[in-house]
Amino acid sequence: MPSHCLVTGVAGFIGSALAEELLARGNSVLGVDCFSDYYARELKEWNLRELRVQAGFSFQDADLRTADLASLLEGATVVFHFAAQPGVRKSWGPEFAGYVENNVVATQRLLEAVKGRALTRFVYASSSSVYGDAPDLPVRESTLPRPISPYGVTKLAAEHLCGLYARSFDVPTVSLRYFTVYGPRQRPDMAFSQFVRAIREDREIVIYGDGEQTRDFTYIKDAVAAALQAAQVDLSTPWGRVYNIGGGSRVSVNRVIRLLETMTGKTARINAQPAQPGDARHTSADCSAAAADLGYRPQVTLEAGLQEMVAGGRE
Ligand SMILES: NC(=O)c1ccc[n+]([C@@H]2O[C@H](COP(=O)([O-])OP(=O)(O)OC[C@H]3O[C@@H](n4cnc5c(N)ncnc54)[C@H](O)[C@@H]3O)[C@@H](O)[C@H]2O)c1
Repeated sequence: MPSHCLVTGVAGFIGSALAEELLARGNSVLGVDCFSDYYARELKEWNLRELRVQAGFSFQDADLRTADLASLLEGATVVFHFAAQPGVRKSWGPEFAGYVENNVVATQRLLEAVKGRALTRFVYASSSSVYGDAPDLPVRESTLPRPISPYGVTKLAAEHLCGLYARSFDVPTVSLRYFTVYGPRQRPDMAFSQFVRAIREDREIVIYGDGEQTRDFTYIKDAVAAALQAAQVDLSTPWGRVYNIGGGSRVSVNRVIRLLETMTGKTARINAQPAQPGDARHTSADCSAAAADLGYRPQVTLEAGLQEMVAGGRE
């Protein structure tokens, strides 16, 4: 049955793609975003351009840290909480306060505001960064989370808040631990987006570390499908569950560069820089819980997904 959904972070990479799919399936969406300055507003406006012309979509330029959340939640039965201050490397030092405000305090405000409302689901975008450098791969949800970045600490804190509000107030939360999401309109600070632009413009590609670090890369359509499944499937209580959402293809950064070279017919010029504090060496998701409970099965191979990025206009 179509729902009225609140999507936070709707001008972002994942939030905008999610809202497009929700509308395509006949839902109505109120999207909220404050255009944080982590990257250019014009890119976020670009993300919104197809949404803004659709009848079922409305938009509020609002900051979750201060907004009147009750009015934003009017009539909503599903909340997708995808707003956050992203980025591992910038989360050290004085910037950390902003991570706490946008990722932890804003999430707690939203959870307080939904308490007692007739929501069918509250889907929270968590992150593989909660795991840090896990000793055994692939990680399962039962692996002890030990973030190695301040960003990861804030994502884990917010995930715990979702668990707390589920247990104490029956808020129907489900947290999805996303593993590196990529695809058209990916955030400009993320590796694939940087690589594709650099190769196209014959600029150097900056790689941190030896390039043999591996990631479980998740294509945007699979990430969106997981969010829809988490909102729709008939999950039984207890709420507060957590699921790994990976793409099923764990590859090294060097392999990604080689694939891009083949796809573009160009040779990448590499500028190797030291590994950055906070970057995990490897990530790999065991998605069997999401498969069993949500029916989640990633559909898009890395080759196919990368091809979409290479072919697209705005990475
Ligand atoms: N992209 C990934 O690979 C990835 C991986 C794991 C988890 N996640 C999580 O998925 C979510 C979306 O990530 P993304 O890559 O689309 O990031 P993004 O930066 O493109 O989108 C996040 C949006 O949230 C908005 N925002 C931030 N603080 C806000 C506030 N206080 N009030 C209102 N809006 C606010 C920003 O303006 C931005 O448009 C985030 O929660 C992120 O932590 C992303």
